[in-house]
Amino acid sequence: METKIAFTAFETIDAEALVLIAFEQTAQSHPWIAELVTSGEFTGKFLDSVVLHHPTGIGAKRLVAIGGGKADRFTPSEMRQLAGAVVRSLKTKKMRRVALVLSEAFQYPEYVAAAVGGAILGDWEPDLHKSKKESTGGIDEFTVLCPGGVTELADAFTRGQVVATAQNFARELSNEPPNLLTPTVLARRAAQMAAETGLSCDILDQDRMRQLGMGSLLGVAQGSAEPPFLIVLRYAPPVPLPGVHLALVGKAVTFDTGGISIKPSEKMDLMKFDMCGGAAVLGAMQAIASLKPGIAITAYIPTVENMPGSKAQRPGDIVTSLSGKTIEILNTDAEGRLIMADAITYAKRQGATHLIDASTLTGAIVVALGAINSGVFSNHELFQRRLLDSAKNQGEKMWAMPMDEEYKESLKSASADLPNIGSRGGGSITAAKFIEEFAEETPWIHLDIAGTAWIEEAKPYLAKGPTGVALRTFVHLAQSWE
Ligand code: BES
Ligand code: ZN
Ligand code: ZN
Repeated sequence: METKIAFTAFETIDAEALVLIAFEQTAQSHPWIAELVTSGEFTGKFLDSVVLHHPTGIGAKRLVAIGGGKADRFTPSEMRQLAGAVVRSLKTKKMRRVALVLSEAFQYPEYVAAAVGGAILGDWEPDLHKSKKESTGGIDEFTVLCPGGVTELADAFTRGQVVATAQNFARELSNEPPNLLTPTVLARRAAQMAAETGLSCDILDQDRMRQLGMGSLLGVAQGSAEPPFLIVLRYAPPVPLPGVHLALVGKAVTFDTGGISIKPSEKMDLMKFDMCGGAAVLGAMQAIASLKPGIAITAYIPTVENMPGSKAQRPGDIVTSLSGKTIEILNTDAEGRLIMADAITYAKRQGATHLIDASTLTGAIVVALGAINSGVFSNHELFQRRLLDSAKNQGEKMWAMPMDEEYKESLKSASADLPNIGSRGGGSITAAKFIEEFAEETPWIHLDIAGTAWIEEAKPYLAKGPTGVALRTFVHLAQSWE
């Protein structure tokens, strides 16, 4: 699907479907829609729609009215969902060319970016390995039509395109099956993306990590025949803001069986999603490389497969992390925090001033927040506030979780500095507390995306499967840093 922005009058647009947004309980500016409201066929309820064939006075073959809901609640987030829903409902109906009209009230950068972004996100399907594509007969051309709009909106349009395309790249990686997307393949895909976008790339293999002393990460990898990697991608602006070096750290377990503390077989297939944090970070770097924010940003993506092979680590093992802290492995299924610990220490040693990690870390966060909000954990209130502001701006729901000192009390091991699990109660918090031990005093935010990285049911605006969550927040935070 090709996306375009245009500024002409909508009457003259030649398309199979011209889409107009209409709101509940407001005077309709178009006579056709006013008539539909009077007749009771259409109310303007969010995402309700009605199609008119051969409407008089316009060039398009059909007019689609889609409900925007309550006008005063229509934020860019609603625009993103609406555009996605338009694409998903029209693409199965042989509408090759579709134009979505943004009236003057919505001709602002955030709405334009959201409209094109939502369309691109809505178009994605998890059908790469299907012989018959879901999207066949799909939309060829999607136009965001801003009649009389200023051409400066084109920059916002491009930004929306770049970010959503990066998000679909992350979703595509996340949806790959674990036999085809091993740590080796992920590292190769990252290197390829870096070469295409001009990022510098350094991939640490097992030998390098052994020399450095990443015992925590390597312990997780040792049960698998697939070798682990630490993927490092660097973005440096020509004149970077002094004193800031943001590290984005993404958990990329290409498959999590649980290891010796093996998971039940029911729904274990979902555990291919355990690299969604890493994929979101990779996608964010792709967008960052093209949007060129003013701060230095480095991505660290530890990637392993958690398997119960004959060399696998056992409950009871003690490993020495890169930080020097020793860890008693009490449950091999709590592997995410083990690989993140070494990646975070490495990022700090490379000069990170701010750390953000995205990880499908705990089942406990799914219990706490469901599939609606990602959990946010931090040791730095102001930094956390900035991230939450970016999340809100980008329509990614996130909820700050408590980090009281008391939650650390259960992280006690008789024989090592730390155990790799704490109390089950507040399990997502005790997991965050473990990671905090490695972030130490560096401003740090941990996002637990175990509940939000994957949707089990399709939404009107998004296919079921990987969501690419956190990516937009990362890109916005990077771009708005001052
Ligand atoms: N990748 C999982 C987290 C997960 C579990 C995500 C279920 C989505 C659904 C993680 O590595 C894990 O297994 N965590 C354990 C930790 C426990 C052993 C302390 C969990 O949450 O059960
Ligand atoms: Zn696990
Ligand atoms: Zn895991």
